This record gives sequence, structure tokens and C-alpha cells, in this order.
Amino acid sequence: MREQLLIEYDKIDKQNILDEDVRRLLAAARGRLADSYSPYSKFRVAAALLLDSGEIISGANQENAAFPSCLCAEQVAFAAAASQAPGQKILKTLISTSSLEHEPAAPCGNCRQVIAEFENRQDSSIVILLEGKDFIYQFDSIKSLLPLGFAGGHFMHP
Ligand code: THU
Repeated sequence: MREQLLIEYDKIDKQNILDEDVRRLLAAARGRLADSYSPYSKFRVAAALLLDSGEIISGANQENAAFPSCLCAEQVAFAAAASQAPGQKILKTLISTSSLEHEPAAPCGNCRQVIAEFENRQDSSIVILLEGKDFIYQFDSIKSLLPLGFAGGHFMHP
């Protein structure tokens, strides 16, 4: 028996962003790019998170001469939210980069796993917004980017 997984997403025209949350997240992430420390890759990444209080928390990638010690923007932002706003649910995250000629800017596998853990611990989906050149790609959940992910001994349902 052969089955298929379907991944749906929305494309938001950057010239016509109707959702106020998305506009705020985009501004926050783009503003945070200046705080990227990326002398090795020269690739700036920022992630902004919308909490259910309405507050936005953001972070940028922080590199290290020992490459495995580099921290991705998503990990910086999610850890900051868990530390500075414990108990607050994360509703949405928007990820931007300094180089938008490739689209969309997609989180690495490790960051997908980190975000999946946040969804599991808060028991609700996090909308993932990836900024591309002309469009923002909006996914309903990290499950769309990490289907069949590992979650403590069982597969997450697709
Ligand atoms: N990077 C992120 O911050 N997030 C990702 O999801 C992918 C990659 C950073 C890590 C490194 O500082 C730079 O981008 C180049 O890989």
C-alpha cells in the first residue's frame, strides 16, 4: 500500500500583507538582522516570535569560530521566549535572512526539531512564516516542514 503526505501552505504577497501580525513580525525580524553575528558565513538570519500576549520576541544567529557552536536565529529566539516569557504560548514565527535571492529561507533540520519540541510542550501549533524575495510562505505548523518527526519515542502524526 502506497500513501502520500500533502503539505499545504499559503503564499502572502509582500506588497499586500493584510495580516497585521505578519506585518509586525516582518518588521521585527528584519530589524533584528542587524544583531546577527555572522563573520564566518556572512549570512544573517533573524526569527521573530509572536506570543499570545501580543508581545514579540526575536533573535539573530550567533556564530562561533568553532562552527558546531554556532547558534541559529530560531534557537536564539525560541530559547529567549522560553526564558523571558515562560508559560506564554508562541503563536507564530517569521524567519528572515539578509539574502533573499534564494527563496524561501528555510529553517535547518535541527531548528525544525527544536520548533517541534516547542509545539509539543505547548500542545498547540506554531504558524511558520518564511520570508522569500516576493512572497512570505506560511505553514500552519512545524509538522508541515518536519512531517513524521521524532517526538519522544513516537512519530508525530502528519
Ligand atoms: N542559520 C540560521 O540561523 N537558521 C537556519 O535555519 C539556517 C542557518 C544560520 C546558521 C549560520 O550562522 C548561518 O545561518 C549559515 O549557515
